[in-house]
Order: sequence, then C-alpha cells, then structure tokens
Amino acid sequence: MRIDVVTGLPGILNGPLNESIIKRAQAAGIVEINICNLRDFTHDKHKTIDDVPYGGGPGMVLKPEPVFECVEKLKSDRDYDDVILLTPDGEVFNQALANELSLKNNLILICGHYKGVDERVRESIVTKEISIGDYVLTGGELAALVIIDAVVRILPGALGDSESALSDSFQTGLLDYPQYTRPPVYRGMKVPDVLLSGDHAEIARWREERAIERTMRRRPDLIEKYYSRLQKTRNEHE
Ligand code: 6GU
Repeated sequence: MRIDVVTGLPGILNGPLNESIIKRAQAAGIVEINICNLRDFTHDKHKTIDDVPYGGGPGMVLKPEPVFECVEKLKSDRDYDDVILLTPDGEVFNQALANELSLKNNLILICGHYKGVDERVRESIVTKEISIGDYVLTGGELAALVIIDAVVRILPGALGDSESALSDSFQTGLLDYPQYTRPPVYRGMKVPDVLLSGDHAEIARWREERAIERTMRRRPDLIEKYYSRLQKTRNEHE
C-alpha cells in the first residue's frame, strides 16, 4: 500500500511516522508513506499556501493552486483509489472505515486547514471526506496520523502474531478485558487467580464476561450492536 500525505506542515508528520510499528511497516515494505509539502508547489517568493476567505470572516483558507498541482503531479505517476480530504465536516472515522481503507492500494490524504480548503478542491479532486470526531483541530495533520496509524497496523504483517489485530476491541465489537503482567502481586494487589490457572477455557470465559461487563457499563451503545451481530452470525450458520 502507498499513502501520499499532502500538507503545508510536514514537520508534524515526520516524527510520529518514524516510530515503532509504523516505522517497522515502512522498513518491511508493507506500506510506503510519502509526504508532499504544499510549499513545493507554490510559485511566489513567500511560498503562499493560504489566503483570506472571499466574503470576509476569520481564518485562512487553503488556496486551490498548490493542492491541484501537487495532486496532479502524484496522479501523473500512478493511479489512486481515493483522494481523501481530512476535514471536521467529513464522514466520522471508525474501525469499519479503517478496515475498508486498508484494502486500497494507493491513497492520497489532503490535510485541510481548520477554516477550510477552497471548495473547488472538494468539487474536482476529492473523492472522500473524513473527520476523526466531533471536535475541532487546528489542521488535518493529526487526523491524517490517526488514520494512517489505524490503517497500517491492520495491514498483513504489520503486527507480529503476538500483537494480532483481529482480537482488538472494535474488531470483536466489545471493549477489551482487563490485562495483567508480572509480578503476580504488586503492592498487595493480586492478579486474578484464573489467569494463573493455566485453564485456557476458563480464562477465555472469564475474559469474555469481563469484556461484556465493561462494555455494558461504559458503552451500552456497543452492546446492542454486538448482540445483534452475534445473532446474525448464528442465524447464518443455521
Ligand atoms: Cl479531519 N480536521 C480538523 N481540522 N479538525 C478535525 C478533524 C479533521 N477531525 C476532527 N476534528
């Protein structure tokens, strides 16, 4: 998979993309992530990428020319499945959308300014608009990082077997059960006996119960979806 990120602030992206699992996935050739600096596609001395909005009002708007020219350059080298604009008014990102994006070959992510991008970019270049939640960020860069992280970690080979993504909460539909590691007693707090028992069936039952209990208490909205999906799967097997 290849991801091109179009941004006026490449410095925000460099650090996080060169750590841990995302760094390893790039080194292993599982994903190629390329950052395109919009300032490289300006023609004036000040490398201007934004301007005041027509009609007045606060904030700056991303100019169309650098975005069009940058995306045209990328498209001249390969075909893209989607050109995604990160914007607070997009479709809200979730695990299902991460799963869907992980099946694509080539993606462009355009990081908008919080006040927006010239509408002509949306009209003629963008194929999908995504928000990472109902709050406002200063720009789309952190949202791009969130999406890249969620997508890359589920690509085949990105996680080792011991870190498998299939057991994730939101893949199972439930929040995670409580986790413990050594030591067995810390400051008087004991790890539940069942986890030390070696009885795998009993451990699996305990974990499912704790996951359901935690999800009911914290996210009752997820429980309904979980049970209706479970019911559907059972019906399909009948
Ligand atoms: Cl994608 N961009 C900005 N600026 N704010 C956001 C967002 C994106 N998603 C949630 N808030």
